[in-house]
Amino acid sequence: MFVTVEGPEGSGKSSVMKRVAERLQKEGFDVVLTREPGGTPIAEQIREVILNKENTKMDKITEALLYAASRRQHLVEKVWPLTKEGKLVISDRFLDSSLAYQGGARGIGIDKVLEINMAATEGYYPDLTLLFDVAPEVGLARIAANKGREVNRLDLEKIEFHREVRQTFLDLAQRFKDRFVIIDASQPFEKVIEDAYKAIKDRMVK
Ligand code: TYD
Repeated sequence: MFVTVEGPEGSGKSSVMKRVAERLQKEGFDVVLTREPGGTPIAEQIREVILNKENTKMDKITEALLYAASRRQHLVEKVWPLTKEGKLVISDRFLDSSLAYQGGARGIGIDKVLEINMAATEGYYPDLTLLFDVAPEVGLARIAANKGREVNRLDLEKIEFHREVRQTFLDLAQRFKDRFVIIDASQPFEKVIEDAYKAIKDRMVK
């Protein structure tokens, strides 16, 4: 089974999924937690190019292609072989992040970004996608709290961008109803863990 976890920054998805994976491992499931962009040495090198703050001249289509390239490498080297072995692979971000960030917020368009990704995924989709939904104000405030500082002017300027990301994720959850489960990430940490765990267990039974 291939599970992906999506959501805006500050949704808590990475720390929640660590706990969910530990719980499933204790129950005897063979769980592999991975992430995008990255997850393998080559894909991590591509990640460095994408997230390097000095690359201010990066064209948005170039950016989308690099995410797709890193995704391809991650699928071929890790996700496909491991799921074939019967492991439960959980990826912190996948295709829907490209659709929400590059397609929605950066304005390339969902269908164009889907097309760019077809070469990478060959039409492969996750069995289950957990969307950690939270308002951008809450997510950004959490990040600021972690860093021990107030939300600043730059964070607030970015809020429009994050609203667009959130809305696109919600639209995607409508469009791909069969594989999406929305998790209310504004709830207390332990409750979010419980909901995410249950969503995965439910899907296993089906
Ligand atoms: P990361 O530090 O992993 O953030 P997070 O902990 O929030 O997942 O950085 C990943 C960033 O890359 C994040 O801002 C979302 C963005 N991203 C895209 O824009 N498109 C994509 O396809 C993926 C996978 C990530």
